[in-house]
Amino acid sequence: MHSEKAQGVVIKTFSGSPTGLRDMINQGFRLVHLQIKRLQRNTHRRVMPLREFSEELLRAPHHVGAVCPSSKSLGLAMAEAINLTDDRLVIELGAGTGSITQALLQQGVPANRLIVLERSEALVRRLRQRFPTLTIIQGDAADLPTLLRDQCQDIGNVVSSLPLRSLKPVAADAIIAGILDTLADGGRLIQFTYDLRRPSVPEHFGLRRVTTRRVWANLPPARVDVFDYRLT
Ligand SMILES: C[S@@+](CC[C@H](N)C(=O)[O-])C[C@H]1O[C@@H](n2cnc3c(N)ncnc32)[C@H](O)[C@@H]1O
Repeated sequence: MHSEKAQGVVIKTFSGSPTGLRDMINQGFRLVHLQIKRLQRNTHRRVMPLREFSEELLRAPHHVGAVCPSSKSLGLAMAEAINLTDDRLVIELGAGTGSITQALLQQGVPANRLIVLERSEALVRRLRQRFPTLTIIQGDAADLPTLLRDQCQDIGNVVSSLPLRSLKPVAADAIIAGILDTLADGGRLIQFTYDLRRPSVPEHFGLRRVTTRRVWANLPPARVDVFDYRLT
């Protein structure tokens, strides 16, 4: 009997004896079992966030404001907009199942400088499992100045997936005012929207939009707006 290695399992090839045949059948079963386990692990990893996202969508459609989690391309576009030379804190608002959180970490945002905020209790549970070392706050972005009392004015980048356009204008305005209260001078607000024409943050806030970028590889296509925040 000869042995060769395939996919991390030693496979023995049949040499003619009955013991060899039994060994070979057992090897075959082991290989199939291993493949099924792998498939189950991958499916679980992919389907779980989708299931939790859809459950939240049914519970609070206006707050979720999206049909599925952001794509890798949208996560990357949001993460690339971060000013990494700013060593103040990064706050992510409305993290959902963590598509953008993951992209921020991959882009090089240090875990100890990232604070994540999410309203839904179920999604926060999921985020804490997925990113055990991150600071994850369960709360409403409308209470941002209170929630971040100790870190206010030390925030250099706010990355927001909040569905501002599907909230009532007065609620969206209160959230944006709170964000601006916590952003430090010279900070940056990064917001995505599915509205490809209108700016993601209403113009009456007088923020200067420095860049805008469309991301077609997302369901639906989205636009990432970057705003500068200056106190004067
Ligand atoms: C459009 S989903 C984006 C989820 C995730 N960031 C992504 O890109 O896949 C909006 C998320 O914001 C959360 N959210 C909505 N309103 C919020 C609020 N006022 N405060 C904190 N989170 C909120 C929702 O629960 C949801 O997870």
